[in-house]
Amino acid sequence: MLEKLADIILRCKTGAVLTGAGISAESGVPTFRGDEGLWKKFRPEQLASMDAFLSSPEVVWEWYNWRRELVSKVKPNPGHFALREIEELFDSFTLITQNVDNLHQVAGSSRVLELHGNIYRNKCVNCNTMHDPELEIKPDDIPKCGKCGGQIRPDVVWFGEMLPAAVIDEAFEKAEKADVFISVGTSALVQPAASLPLIAKQHGATLVEINPERTPLSDLADFHFPAKSGELLPELMTLLKEKTTG
Ligand code: APR
Repeated sequence: MLEKLADIILRCKTGAVLTGAGISAESGVPTFRGDEGLWKKFRPEQLASMDAFLSSPEVVWEWYNWRRELVSKVKPNPGHFALREIEELFDSFTLITQNVDNLHQVAGSSRVLELHGNIYRNKCVNCNTMHDPELEIKPDDIPKCGKCGGQIRPDVVWFGEMLPAAVIDEAFEKAEKADVFISVGTSALVQPAASLPLIAKQHGATLVEINPERTPLSDLADFHFPAKSGELLPELMTLLKEKTTG
């Protein structure tokens, strides 16, 4: 099955990948909905929402500082590196991620569309002015925006918030044009990201899913690999390299 996918990929000019928390699981970053997922321990509306921030900003910042601390200590895994390498096999390749952990950029992926923002970036809760990512945020003394005096918040998309329009528009455009679309490590439950693989498939892409568990995509996918991305993606890359070097 992997051999067949490798042959298809080598005939494709345009590729797109959608990643979710699962691709960072082997780096030690907790997913959201798995057995050890964050949403099993915390309630998203208590931490990842504007209401939560307006009612108790210090609690929200304690949580994000904890996540920043955790993510700053982990490294990309072989799955991230394989996605950086696979870029070169396509005339056009787009990496679309729901993750905010910056691990694709650390792994060297050149063009990452961050649908849900980036946990290291800071912006004003009122006027959205970006602020220094190195800013130290003390939950009991949250810095204020230099422009309007609003409180600083993490530049991540919270529940109920719109995704950055330019980013999601480009993601849909790339999904429509993809010859092959690979969905990696996502439960494919959260919109609008979860629509991207469907749009790709509707526009004629070969749809691939890499996830140890089944998701709403699994029956639609042309290939479903019940595997860990940190194992499967390097295996796929090895096969592709063997076939391209002859
Ligand atoms: N390799 C591949 N997939 C894995 C691995 C792994 N090693 N480990 C777990 N997975 C899969 C799980 O089976 C699950 O389907 O990763 C998926 C993670 O799903 P979620 O925890 O729901 O994460 P995600 O799909 O990224 O969530 C989407 O929801 O809470 C919001 O903003 C948050 O971006 C997030 C969005």
